[in-house]
Amino acid sequence: MNGQLPTPTRPIAIETVDLWRVYSLGHQEVAALRGVNLQVEQGRFIALKGRSGSGKTTLLNCLGGLDHPTKGDIRIFGESISGWNEGKLTKWRRQQVGFIFQSFGLLPSLSAYENVELILRMGGVKRKERDQRTRACLELVGLGDRMDHRPFELSGGQQQRVAIARSLANDPKVILADEPTGELDSNTAREILTLFQTIVREQHVTMLMVTHDNLVDEYVDQVLRLRDGQLEESLAVEEVSAPVEVALG
Ligand SMILES: Nc1ncnc2c1ncn2[C@@H]1O[C@H](COP(=O)(O)OP(=O)(O)OP(=O)(O)O)[C@@H](O)[C@H]1O
Ligand SMILES: [Mg+2]
Repeated sequence: MNGQLPTPTRPIAIETVDLWRVYSLGHQEVAALRGVNLQVEQGRFIALKGRSGSGKTTLLNCLGGLDHPTKGDIRIFGESISGWNEGKLTKWRRQQVGFIFQSFGLLPSLSAYENVELILRMGGVKRKERDQRTRACLELVGLGDRMDHRPFELSGGQQQRVAIARSLANDPKVILADEPTGELDSNTAREILTLFQTIVREQHVTMLMVTHDNLVDEYVDQVLRLRDGQLEESLAVEEVSAPVEVALG
């Protein structure tokens, strides 16, 4: 023994095997995904890039069970979800996946608190636990003092934080984010990316984030690229060594 332990490999959280998604439009067929082989280790923060129409959203939707692959397999922590029926997929989505979208997707008539709590209500969580988790998630994203505000009473960055709190409410294993910083100025985007880093490291969540933004490169562990429905070479990014600070407010 030379005193060095072998580097432990992390379990694979997300895996796709020869994943195809072909859309039929009349006589025309569009192959949005053409044999994607993806492996993401647990607790990694991964950026997914690629030109418009390269299949990024399609891949995310398939992974979250919102869309059905035409061919191939999706395995989450080793379990194949491809053969699951709608009921099982819905359960998986509600209990294990957090979604974040570019446009926040908040209900305008509900407060920040109510937007987060609704997800837990849909998941059948009891009232006392709902209240505790809603408050904890909003506090985690720095909105402890904005719980009663409705979306129009919040800035864009604060609205995205509500959406992040909502995605965390069900204590997900996997967060799938589609251009979550697309609507934000670069300072706010950096705050949100720092928050994502903290969440991935502290909550041990695996996060796959679609983005066009080069700003993200310094925050993620790896950048994957889709080109015409296929994965290109992947670039490992150095582990970020800077101390992680969560900017509040
Ligand atoms: N429901 C659908 N029916 C038919 N074709 C679709 C459907 N959804 C996506 N496509 C096609 O699949 C391809 C991939 O679309 P997708 O939305 O995954 O791209 P994207 O990489 O997310 O692009 P963007 O960066 O513009 O969001 C495109 O050619 C698109 O036209
Ligand atoms: Mg898209």
